[in-house]
Amino acid sequence: MYRKLCRSLSAWIMFFLFWREALVHAGVTSSYVRKLSESKDMPIDSLAFRPPSGFNAPQQVHITQGDYDGHAVIISWVSTSQSTLGVLTYSLANDGSESNDVHCNATNYTFASYKSGYIHHCLVGGLMHDSNYTYKLGKGAEARQFWFCTPPKLGPDVAYTFGIIGDLGQTYDSLRTFEHYTASNGQAVLYVGDLSYADHYPQHNGERWDTWGRFIEPSTAYQPWIWTAGNHEIEFSPELDEIEPFKPFLHRYATPYAASNSTSPLWYAIRRASAHIIVLSSYSAYGKYTPQWIWLHDELKRVDRTITPWLIILVHTPLYDSNRAHYMEGEGMRAEFETWFLKYKVDAVFSGHAHAYERTHRVSNVVSYAVSGGCVPAHDRSAPVYVTVGDGGNIEGLARTYIQPQPEYSAFREASYGHAILDIKNRTHAHLMWHRNDDGEVSIADEFWIQNQIWMPRKSSDVVPRRILKKSFSKLKCSVCEQSPLLKRLLNAA
Ligand SMILES: [Fe+2]
Repeated sequence: MYRKLCRSLSAWIMFFLFWREALVHAGVTSSYVRKLSESKDMPIDSLAFRPPSGFNAPQQVHITQGDYDGHAVIISWVSTSQSTLGVLTYSLANDGSESNDVHCNATNYTFASYKSGYIHHCLVGGLMHDSNYTYKLGKGAEARQFWFCTPPKLGPDVAYTFGIIGDLGQTYDSLRTFEHYTASNGQAVLYVGDLSYADHYPQHNGERWDTWGRFIEPSTAYQPWIWTAGNHEIEFSPELDEIEPFKPFLHRYATPYAASNSTSPLWYAIRRASAHIIVLSSYSAYGKYTPQWIWLHDELKRVDRTITPWLIILVHTPLYDSNRAHYMEGEGMRAEFETWFLKYKVDAVFSGHAHAYERTHRVSNVVSYAVSGGCVPAHDRSAPVYVTVGDGGNIEGLARTYIQPQPEYSAFREASYGHAILDIKNRTHAHLMWHRNDDGEVSIADEFWIQNQIWMPRKSSDVVPRRILKKSFSKLKCSVCEQSPLLKRLLNAA
């Protein structure tokens, strides 16, 4: 009788554990059905693209972080005539301090029959953290004024809110995504590639780069967008005698690559608030001993989770998703870098490319079986969360077809336009929210609390590099790390 009872109890416990595991790892394919509509670029004379009034007024104004730690910005703009070379005046807002003048040179380029305007990039350095600055471009009647806020000083518990946008383009859906984002409390944008889709037009109509620059100016002039290059930036076109890859992108959108010892504007890193952000290029060589491989190898060693607990990767092509569009195009980079992502405990990888939204469970695929030759993604709490946000809304339309049945690694997926927000609260928690364009601005269609891989590891991910921990403990009062039993144990042993 007693044995029977035990067997029955064990069976119930096994059933409960199985059910719980299934529930935790079950993926969701959203049942939301979006109304079909044509993906069409806004007309070239649309109000969204209207140039500023005044002869040669600065236009397509955009800023990005200018150094490794947020003491500098790169301010960029385009003027149609060279008559006013770049003059930029900036000062701390509302404190009566003297303004500083910076003179910047301009560059331009041709692409097929298109000739660009004069593109100015000004590096403004020596800025104070957490301060408001105003800046004025041009002189006299054509001058225009903007402002920006510098980020807070780096620190492990500094809260910060990033927007995440990808594959935006310039359609009516792009406009909805953009308007929703600008109504949010995002302080900087992590842009995951594919910008204007100018290459969709005959001869890659460069005017569509100009319209895109004017379209996004209401945000890019006031807060930094951190750029990642996508396939639509390559524009390698021997048939047009254009054989310089990324030519328009590299002329127009500067990145602070030298500040992180990178040799290319296409891969680089910045530190902002409590995040270390690494930008990779899916369309540059990344195999062993290539410049990008060597740079990433060194950059990951520079990450100090006691200063920037959040380690985030931006790369255009997803390393894990289950959309039929571009399925497994990121497999080469996954195979090359995934072991590093696990070793350095990357918190999240954000991508675009597939025109939909998807979030994975924490998975890895680093074990292959010698006999079967197979290798499959497995749940791995040491692994990053992979999020695809290629749903900005461009001329190519949504990617509606998914792999069926939903793979176990996929946690949530939906083919709708939208943007994401990553709200970092402190060193242990960040809230990821995805906003579907069809809903109101504040409505959240998917959300996930990301626990930091170093400061709030889940039980089975308690494999933290000991050298990092020792460094942390010597510097910090561990009120927060007491939340992790492993960290506490190591603290006592150190
Ligand atoms: Fe793409």
